[in-house]
Amino acid sequence: MTDLIDALNAPVAPAGTGYVTKGMSVSRVDGRDKVTGAAQYAAEHFPADLAYGVVVNSSFAKGRIVGFDLEQALAVPGVIEIITHQNRPKMRAFDLSYKDMTAPSGSPFRPLYDENVRYSGQPIALVVAETFEAARYASSLVRAECAVEPHDTNLMNNLHRGYKPSRLKAGYSPPPAERGHADAAYEAAPVKIAATYYNAVEHHNPLEPFASTVIRDADGHLTIYDKTQSSQNSRWYVSHVFGLSKKKVTVRNPYVGGAFGSGLRPQYQLPLAVMAALKLKRSVRVVLTRQQMFTFGHRPETVQHLKLAAERDGTLRAIVHEAIAETSRIEDYVEVVVNWSGQLYTCDNVRLGYRLVDLDQYTPIDMRAPGAAHGVHALEVAMDELAYALNMDPLALRLKNYAERDPMKDLPYSTKELRACYEQAAARFGWSRRPMAPRSMQEGTELVGWGMATGQWDAMQMFARASAVLHADGRLVVSSAATDIGTGTYTVMSMIAAAAMGLELEKVTFQLGDSTLPVAPIEGGSSHVTTVGSAVEGACEKLQKRLYKMAKSLPGKPFAQYRFRDVEFVQGHMRLRQNPSASVELPALLAAAGETRVEEKYLLLPNVLKQKKYVRATHSAVFAEVKVDETFGTVRVTRVVSAIAAGRIMSLKTAHSQVTGAVVWGISEALHEATWADHKLGRFMNHNLSEYHVAVNADIHDIDVIFVDEDDRIVSRLGAKGVGEIGIVGVSAAICNAIYHATGKRVRSTPMTPDRVMAD
Ligand code: MOS
Repeated sequence: MTDLIDALNAPVAPAGTGYVTKGMSVSRVDGRDKVTGAAQYAAEHFPADLAYGVVVNSSFAKGRIVGFDLEQALAVPGVIEIITHQNRPKMRAFDLSYKDMTAPSGSPFRPLYDENVRYSGQPIALVVAETFEAARYASSLVRAECAVEPHDTNLMNNLHRGYKPSRLKAGYSPPPAERGHADAAYEAAPVKIAATYYNAVEHHNPLEPFASTVIRDADGHLTIYDKTQSSQNSRWYVSHVFGLSKKKVTVRNPYVGGAFGSGLRPQYQLPLAVMAALKLKRSVRVVLTRQQMFTFGHRPETVQHLKLAAERDGTLRAIVHEAIAETSRIEDYVEVVVNWSGQLYTCDNVRLGYRLVDLDQYTPIDMRAPGAAHGVHALEVAMDELAYALNMDPLALRLKNYAERDPMKDLPYSTKELRACYEQAAARFGWSRRPMAPRSMQEGTELVGWGMATGQWDAMQMFARASAVLHADGRLVVSSAATDIGTGTYTVMSMIAAAAMGLELEKVTFQLGDSTLPVAPIEGGSSHVTTVGSAVEGACEKLQKRLYKMAKSLPGKPFAQYRFRDVEFVQGHMRLRQNPSASVELPALLAAAGETRVEEKYLLLPNVLKQKKYVRATHSAVFAEVKVDETFGTVRVTRVVSAIAAGRIMSLKTAHSQVTGAVVWGISEALHEATWADHKLGRFMNHNLSEYHVAVNADIHDIDVIFVDEDDRIVSRLGAKGVGEIGIVGVSAAICNAIYHATGKRVRSTPMTPDRVMAD
């Protein structure tokens, strides 16, 4: 990694030392706390009156609970209470007041709400005891009498039931109307392909399991340490569900051990822990087991039909892309799967479709680049298939149909350096040396293949507040109720503030992860830097203006005749740009004014009128090398080069780590990850990390990340567009295309496991 950073010519600063500029490579400011164990996660808080809750889950997919036999479980020494739908505290019944901020349309699942069982693994009881061990043991003794009804969890048997989601989540874009006449153009074109692609269910499996520790004060106030991507979303949810005033509930999530979208909605351990705390009037913790991590949202199983047609010179004539995905019976979970196919390439005839099938499953939930991870995969594999039908280089085909403007909305892009991504990644990878024919490269017993794909993701900005406080000793404390799910929020926000104020990084503290801090959005959609980062810079700029005004009344009035734009904040000083010797240390400014602290607050509202004149997106070009041993069907991804256009990069090292991690995700999705259901039982079977395979060290070889130059002042004042999710988009397609190049075999399902690679 050091080599790469050197290659990027970025100034490198060691952790927490000295003055920084935006875009530097800085080690995590919270790194020491994390590796020494000082960072406390949701399950690592120990109030004196703590009780332990363990969840009991249903073992069937559909039906009713007729009654419980709790005698044995209650007899276990240390057991305090078993909470079921029969004795739970009051919860609000109305869907509208019950929803979390990111709920899809429909009627959200409510744990222990009533006797109905809607999916296998649904929580049906919470055993609370003085010790975890007692609760765990007693949970195995809970017996329920059930009226089981027939269930259906099989998407493939129900494709004919696909319906257009009618009630849509705010912010979701349904597929646009047909452009041109796609089917007629397809029929008339000289070169065409049609194929069906399948993507299996995936579960997020962050390292940290979901956990909530509810600490109850003597006055009934609840301080909840929750694993969530938004403390304020969890606070809002708890208040609404249990009818508690805002002042009665504080949610904190200062450290989150990965989430990948699974924490966008409050998970069921949160209301269960709160129920127990309310009922027992004491502190309660509920931690989910790894197996229980498979009993809520997942990336939905998806089937996609693609038809592409072109002239013999590669000019695209028709794109037809239709997807069918699963959802639950209670909510319509929607994601943007097919729209990318109307955006990525210039084409006059495009027809897109998206349908859902409701099954007796839990509602899916966003997972890293939701929608694009599947939709762009299918499109980019289909483009490779078309390239071979045309006998045209796959990169040349992309360039031939390059969209300078967004073809779907007919708007310019705010910035789009995708061409530079293609060029730089292809050069680094050595793409020009690639022979076109499959099976043309071999090393020992392995066939070698090179494939590529394009990626696109949204560049979003929400609204947020931040506050910046300068203290008399020169320390700056900036805060916003943001979240750091391991992505580097603490680091990048500290850097943005330190750079703005000209302070050493160690003088700056960024506070996040507390619902009482200034409002911030959920950490999702790769938008925290564009949103919270812009609010942080805005707050710092207001603070600068305040300090400048204070400087005007300094004795001798050295700054009196200068305007704000004549001064700069550098190396702990405010000074004149033209005459750096006219300079004052920031603490001296506060002292002269008799202040111990100065605070400014800033509300960042996106400039919607300006932004909506553009399509705002990040882009990538991914090149992959695989080595395939046909005897065993094994695939090794030996090299990946990913070039990313995501605006100005604010924190090089953490951004680089995010994209590297996203490529690992892509490799994992391509080769390993799938949650398999036994549809007779209606239940996910491989609900553990020995049978749910993820990429491990041995699967990861060279990963080379390039950030191309881009500066986007339409998406954010920082020039940043947001990085993270863009890193996974296209990776699995590049690998699929490389497997085809190696073997001549097109694997149209993910994960591309040995059986599929070997199959005839
Ligand atoms: Mo992400 S799937 O927006 O947490």
